[in-house]
Amino acid sequence: MQLFGNKYHKIIHGEAIEALTSEVKDASIDLIFIDPPYNIGKNFNGHKDRWENDSDYLDWSYTWLKLCIKKLKPNGSLYVMTSTQFMPYFDLFLRDKINVLSRLVWYYDSSGVQAKNYYGSLYEPILFCVKDKNNYTFNADDVSVDARTGAERKLIDYRKNPPQIYNSKKVPGNVWEFPRVRYRMDEYENHPTQKPIALLERIIKASSNPGDTVLDPFSGSFTTAFVAQQLQRKSISIELQEDYIKIGLRRLNIADEYKGEKLVKELKTYEELKINKEQLILFEKNDEPYLHRKNKKSTRKKLPQAK
Ligand SMILES: C[S@@+](CC[C@H](N)C(=O)[O-])C[C@H]1O[C@@H](n2cnc3c(N)ncnc32)[C@H](O)[C@@H]1O
Repeated sequence: MQLFGNKYHKIIHGEAIEALTSEVKDASIDLIFIDPPYNIGKNFNGHKDRWENDSDYLDWSYTWLKLCIKKLKPNGSLYVMTSTQFMPYFDLFLRDKINVLSRLVWYYDSSGVQAKNYYGSLYEPILFCVKDKNNYTFNADDVSVDARTGAERKLIDYRKNPPQIYNSKKVPGNVWEFPRVRYRMDEYENHPTQKPIALLERIIKASSNPGDTVLDPFSGSFTTAFVAQQLQRKSISIELQEDYIKIGLRRLNIADEYKGEKLVKELKTYEELKINKEQLILFEKNDEPYLHRKNKKSTRKKLPQAK
């Protein structure tokens, strides 16, 4: 296990259960966001997300779920994701250990998922849980959205005396629509299950305050810690894969080098093409063919000869 970071943001390169046990104090965390492997065969940098059988996956998950509850402060909140097929087990397991306040659906319109012989999945479930249902952080105003009836349609409630316009703001319901992270988006990182910044913004704004500590035991591309940093929260991130640790070190501005390697964001294919094109233009500008072409004596085909 290796530790990186500063007094605000800690990155642990290691296995989640081991790191939670030895590196995170009990009852010390305000908010935990858990986005574990889903046991559906995703490829995390050569490491297959697939257990021998379902009960092995569930036993493993129950171990870190129990640990996470132990690490939460008495007024802390926990959000957990998994695949649609395993969420009912998580839900049943958690019910008598913590208060499940909302069963959220993160919905996305994905043209990539085009099942032909069954109904393709367009959502991922999230459980929102709190340790004490009478004492937890929920910043409703920081996450409120327009209420269509009041804000757009400006409808009036005539049952009130005197009649009043409906509220124009409301706490979002339990179906959240955010686009998945696409290759062309600025926030894109090279990780197969990167979660959108917008999703984490809503969770962190609602369920923590500036200065609070947010824990993510399966950090992946470090979206949670990145958003926590933007919102002046502290963070603890755990991740098994070295390549993803490098993303975290760069994304959180903790290091610009790792084992002698410069940590820079990979160029997108179209950015590389653009650079190649610009270099070609520069090359041509500095060489004979360009001058010839300017004087209309030559064409592009006439490249300089090797001497
Ligand atoms: C679903 S992804 C998390 C994606 C992340 N929320 C994001 O926005 O990029 C799960 C991550 O858990 C890591 N992982 C898998 N098994 C682990 C373990 N036992 N301990 C720590 N990390 C693990 C994988 O390498 C993968 O990056």
